[in-house]
Amino acid sequence: MTPAPIRVAITGAAGQIGYALLPRIASGQMFGPEQPVILHMIEIPNEKAMAALKGVAMELEDCAFPLLRDMVLTSDPKVGFKDVHWACLVGAKPRGPGMERNDLLKDNGAIFVGQGRAIAEHAASNVRIAVVGNPCNTNAWIAMQAAKSVPKERFTAMTRLDQNRARAQLAHKAGVPITDVSGALIWGNHSATQVPDFYNAKIRGQSAAKVIADQAWLKGDFIKTVQQRGAAIIAARGVSSAASAANALVDHVRDLHTATPAGEYRSVCVCSDGSYGVPEGLIFGYPVRSDGKGGWSIVQGLELNDFLKEKLAATIKELEGEREVVKTLLA
Ligand code: NAD
Ligand code: LMR
Repeated sequence: MTPAPIRVAITGAAGQIGYALLPRIASGQMFGPEQPVILHMIEIPNEKAMAALKGVAMELEDCAFPLLRDMVLTSDPKVGFKDVHWACLVGAKPRGPGMERNDLLKDNGAIFVGQGRAIAEHAASNVRIAVVGNPCNTNAWIAMQAAKSVPKERFTAMTRLDQNRARAQLAHKAGVPITDVSGALIWGNHSATQVPDFYNAKIRGQSAAKVIADQAWLKGDFIKTVQQRGAAIIAARGVSSAASAANALVDHVRDLHTATPAGEYRSVCVCSDGSYGVPEGLIFGYPVRSDGKGGWSIVQGLELNDFLKEKLAATIKELEGEREVVKTLLA
């Protein structure tokens, strides 16, 4: 029997990421080849944005995707989040050259107060939220605070793009196929302080720190390349990553919707329960396993050496600072 459609809200649906993301959801790459979807495409109440959104909808119609059951086009969050099972919060201003992601806090933070409230009031009772709009960890924290009636476990932010970047860099350096690299992991904030962990990453089952002899590269260029990849793409393209960001969001939601294979984990920013000494309540990039039934857990027992501990302290400090800056938005 065909399952009932999943309703997926995508904010910023007419933006760069939206354009790359929507056909992937509608073609079954996020929820599988048997799962029908209804897309709730949310944009700002602006003539140009709504006209562009209509164009995106026309293109989706022209793809004749069998799994796409309906589309809701709106600038009203009440309509956009009505009964949705997943809310992908992408719509926000991207950074430009020379900016850090948290320079966007003042412009973007307020968006997530209103959207958090609208989700709490109108979404399905089992709604799950994935925040992409930057700075995504703190924006997810804002939405979580604004949506008090939604369990905090439902809120996630995306470090999957960083995980994918780290995996690709390690594979390239070791001269192995991507599939030989597992356990690539990003701790902390999706920012320049994120901690790409090459000790717990594995190449053919062995620590990447052992397989790749070049320790200076691992501690230097590897970490810097992953931390600065978003900025490097902006410098090269003039605009921020879109195809790889949409791809990462498909990975992020699909892997939370399904059960994680035995022995594996994924990088997901979730609300800290104090694991690994991270203050409770921060939205923090952790190794996470999904049970495929809506639940997830933080993988315990990974080793943090002094090098990693020092880096974790810096990303924690940054997240605490961002939280202080946005507290007034929720007053
Ligand atoms: P974009 O400017 O191309 O598109 C953003 C869209 O969001 C626009 O169409 C805009 O009208 C819309 N929008 C703005 N405010 C909105 C609101 N309140 N409700 C609904 N829609 C709204 O930007 P983009 O390249 O698609 O990037 C979107 C965001 O994703 C940026 O903040 C960017 O920095 C972030 N991003 C995050 C990651 C990540 O890994 N977490 C990766 C890439 C980009
Ligand atoms: C990325 O990592 O590519 C995005 O967060 C966009 C950015 O501003 O770097």
